[in-house]
Amino acid sequence: MSMEMNLYDPSVYAAMADAVLQRIGDAPDIAVVLGSGLGDFTDRLCSPVAVGYREIPGFPVSTAPYHAGKFVFGRLGDKKVLCMSGRFHLYEGYSVQQLAVPVRVFKKLGVKAAVLTNAAGAVNPALAPGDIMLIKDHIKLTSLSPLAGPNVSEFGERFFDVGDMYTSSLRQTAKTVAGRTGVPVKEGVYMYFAGPQFETPAEIRMARVLGADAVGMSTAPEALAAAHCKLPLLAVSVITNMAAGVRPDAVLSQEEVRDTAQKVRIVFSDYMEEVIKTV
Ligand code: HPA
Repeated sequence: MSMEMNLYDPSVYAAMADAVLQRIGDAPDIAVVLGSGLGDFTDRLCSPVAVGYREIPGFPVSTAPYHAGKFVFGRLGDKKVLCMSGRFHLYEGYSVQQLAVPVRVFKKLGVKAAVLTNAAGAVNPALAPGDIMLIKDHIKLTSLSPLAGPNVSEFGERFFDVGDMYTSSLRQTAKTVAGRTGVPVKEGVYMYFAGPQFETPAEIRMARVLGADAVGMSTAPEALAAAHCKLPLLAVSVITNMAAGVRPDAVLSQEEVRDTAQKVRIVFSDYMEEVIKTV
């Protein structure tokens, strides 16, 4: 866990952004958070520079499986891209406020957009492992908002609109790229669960009734932090498994999540590379 920091003091985010900038040497245009098993995407960056989270005072350190815990900065076409290989989840023991830190550092670095990626379980039986799903909206009934606590008004207002949190223009671009490259990309609603346990079959039936297409343990808190500071956002799920109970008798495991993420990594990286070059 990170050293104690007052996350309601806006200067801590500026200090973290400065520390990142000093090490990468150039301001990024876009930031990308890589989900479980998707860290290989950093291989696509030209002239990569890696910075461990530990080098950034106050930045949390990731402990989740298949998450590396470093920034990798580099170029994709004419874009300067800052990737996070490894992210923070509530189930690791971070506070909800800590989940907003990466997005706020992106904002301070002046990126024009953030891309959040994740591994997710399919609730909608029309989805299958290996599918790529653009998130158009989310449902988050569990845990506090990362914006809970005193409002940090440097970043945004106390009460803020989340009607276009998953920025429709970026999603439209991502769909256009899917059409051009022939990658069959779906679109749906992501439901957040805090984990670390996978959901119960009853929870998944509830998710389906509520209108969820996929479930996962990340992204929604970061998306809220992005909406708060008006950072345009694209979020992409890789469906790694059918959610609990969708296929009777199937046992969910992190190995299945990792193995599916591994299998789709080339298609995923090809697609993400085109999306980032295009946005
Ligand atoms: N549930 C929650 N998180 C997940 C899943 C799931 O089925 N698959 C990958 N991440």
